Amino acid sequence: MKVQEAIEKRRAYSILENTEITDEILDKLTKAAQLSPSCYNNQPWRILFIRSKERLAEFKQVLTKGNDWAFAASMIAVVFFTKKEDDCVIHDRKYYLFDTGIAVGQMLLQATELGLVAHPIAGYSPQKIRKITNIPEDYKIIAMIIFGKHPQKAEEEARPPRKDFSEFRYLEDYKK
Ligand SMILES: Cc1cc2nc3c(=O)[nH]c(=O)nc-3n(C[C@H](O)[C@H](O)[C@H](O)COP(=O)(O)O)c2cc1C
Repeated sequence: MKVQEAIEKRRAYSILENTEITDEILDKLTKAAQLSPSCYNNQPWRILFIRSKERLAEFKQVLTKGNDWAFAASMIAVVFFTKKEDDCVIHDRKYYLFDTGIAVGQMLLQATELGLVAHPIAGYSPQKIRKITNIPEDYKIIAMIIFGKHPQKAEEEARPPRKDFSEFRYLEDYKK
């Protein structure tokens, strides 16, 4: 699959069916994050993958109400890192979130190429995640990614509208 096709195909679908996440898939997703660029190659991200049925069942309790659809996850990734000092801090510019976001972006596109849905969410309780994992208090949990397969027969959810180019693109100089 070409990158452009993956960009266009990637969707945060909520209708998911179960699919087997093999070690090979797990390695490809991990590699997508591993090869991601970061400031000074600091690689501040850490990712905990939850794949076993028992652990996935435990993780249902960390999801906020509107994210019940994620109960159908075939795998969950918890994206976290230690602190802003783990990555470049240049005056008031802190790059840890920026770099972690790029790594997640690469993983989402890799998942798309593998025929998977990779749906990032912010609707979860970090406190509850900490209770059922060994992730310490000073590690910021910035996102979860819900993996699954979008059923072929499922009604396509329309892509939420995007801003027009004119609302975020500037050429040659910034204009109000
Ligand atoms: C940081 C972040 C947090 C998100 N949190 C949630 C969430 O808690 N629940 C949910 O259903 N979708 C969540 N989404 C998915 C977005 O709603 C979705 O990406 C957006 O509406 C655009 O749709 P598309 O990805 O299908 O193009 C989140 C996405 C991001 C990047």
